[in-house]
Amino acid sequence: MSDNRSESLIESTNYFDVEGSIISVERFGSGHINDTYCVKTDKVGGKSYLLQRINHHIFVNVDGLMQNTKLVLDHIKGKLAHLGVEHVEKASLTLIPTKTGDLYRQDENGDYWRMFILLEGTKSYDIVESANQAYSAGQAFGEFQMLLSDLNANKLVEILPNFHNIDFRINNLKEVIKRDPVKRVAEVQDILDFVFEREERMRAVLLMAKEGRLPLRITHNDTKFNNVLLDSEDRVQCVIDLDTVMPGYVAYDFGDAIRTIINSAAEDEADLSKVVLNIPFFEGYAKGYMSKAKDFLTDNELSSLLDGVFLLPFMQAVRFLTDYIDGDTYYKIQYPEHNLVRTKSQIKLVQELEAHESELVEILESSVQPV
Ligand SMILES: Nc1ncnc2c1ncn2[C@@H]1O[C@H](COP(=O)(O)OP(=O)(O)O)[C@@H](O)[C@H]1O
Ligand SMILES: [Mg+2]
Repeated sequence: MSDNRSESLIESTNYFDVEGSIISVERFGSGHINDTYCVKTDKVGGKSYLLQRINHHIFVNVDGLMQNTKLVLDHIKGKLAHLGVEHVEKASLTLIPTKTGDLYRQDENGDYWRMFILLEGTKSYDIVESANQAYSAGQAFGEFQMLLSDLNANKLVEILPNFHNIDFRINNLKEVIKRDPVKRVAEVQDILDFVFEREERMRAVLLMAKEGRLPLRITHNDTKFNNVLLDSEDRVQCVIDLDTVMPGYVAYDFGDAIRTIINSAAEDEADLSKVVLNIPFFEGYAKGYMSKAKDFLTDNELSSLLDGVFLLPFMQAVRFLTDYIDGDTYYKIQYPEHNLVRTKSQIKLVQELEAHESELVEILESSVQPV
């Protein structure tokens, strides 16, 4: 604890309303967006805390983000209590305000800090290892949406505007193709053909929404497996990482979860033969999700889920491809072709999904049936 950085961390921690005196602040978890620390105090039998420096380069509206978080957590806690859940403080995140009652603190360097109670005895995994875990992930995000289904989505700030808007993403691609700043368009022509052949189909969710056929919900928008805390027996404890929670459509959350959970390969896998679907994980996720969500979803929402499954890897491919053509200005790359490899890997996922479409439809249909 003697270097300056640690001292400034302790100083940041001291602004929050913790019980006892801080004895240690250590790096924690494997998140890629925020900087996360575990905070321990000298209070015997007391809580530990989780201190986070919010990535304000990605989230420019930190105040809006924290207001969203507070609104969502208050609603979830109220609802859990109403449903008779015994340990509400274990089943949801709890914000610790600053000693002056604020939701976050900005330090003299311009960095933003916030604090939660650290949920002890929990774990999060980067990669799904079993259909049972996939089921837990489905339950977690299904319940999260269910708990928020009666909170007015318009009360939340749109933290990342157009995040899942396919028109916006396609327009960005078309714009960069016109500029072709580093002369890469010719090289990726066959991928562009693949994308534009599917453009119409991928508008399905947006179209339904524009026609007023899908309710605007509160969605998580980062439905990765490592944003679910599990207990020691792999049962769901709590959904975390609420930075991207904002108004959206349920198909987006479903599609992004499937994109990350049933692909057995990494997002930038260069060996495309490894990018295959794990159908039992798809089934696990779908069944877990439906066990919590089927009662509040409308028929149109149910039918939009499959569109979301195709859309999310497609949209991710469009984003990687746009950045590749643009000369790699947005995503961090480790080697020159990195964005192209990422694009191809997502395209392969779309192809795999297309090849298994009828199987996926059957699984989705059977997941809605009462067990
Ligand atoms: N309240 C909490 N209790 C225990 N562990 C947590 C808690 N919040 C986050 N974590 C751990 O910290 C990691 C990073 O947190 P997260 O909020 O997901 O940040 P990032 O946006 O960087 O992914 C999580 O994957 C999880 O392992
Ligand atoms: Mg996270």
